[in-house]
Amino acid sequence: GFVVELKKTGREVQVKSGQTILKALLDIGVNVEYSCEEGVCGACETKVISGIPDHRDAILSSSEKAANKTMMICCSGCKSDRLVLDL
Ligand code: FES
Repeated sequence: GFVVELKKTGREVQVKSGQTILKALLDIGVNVEYSCEEGVCGACETKVISGIPDHRDAILSSSEKAANKTMMICCSGCKSDRLVLDL
């Protein structure tokens, strides 16, 4: 697992292995937009402030993925211990 920090609200949530970031956020009552939950619609796109996402979506180009500035939180994970999102 890893920790997701929400920059705007100062909240933190532990994402367990096998759990999505989206699910972890919904579980603590964070209101985020989403639709497909499969990495194909783009509704859940979220800005990344720091940390290294493990991109698993079919939306971002490989250069966008390499830039690590944005991610789809419904399906993508994290390669670092902590991810700071613009939420
Ligand atoms: Fe569709 Fe995440 S909800 S890409």
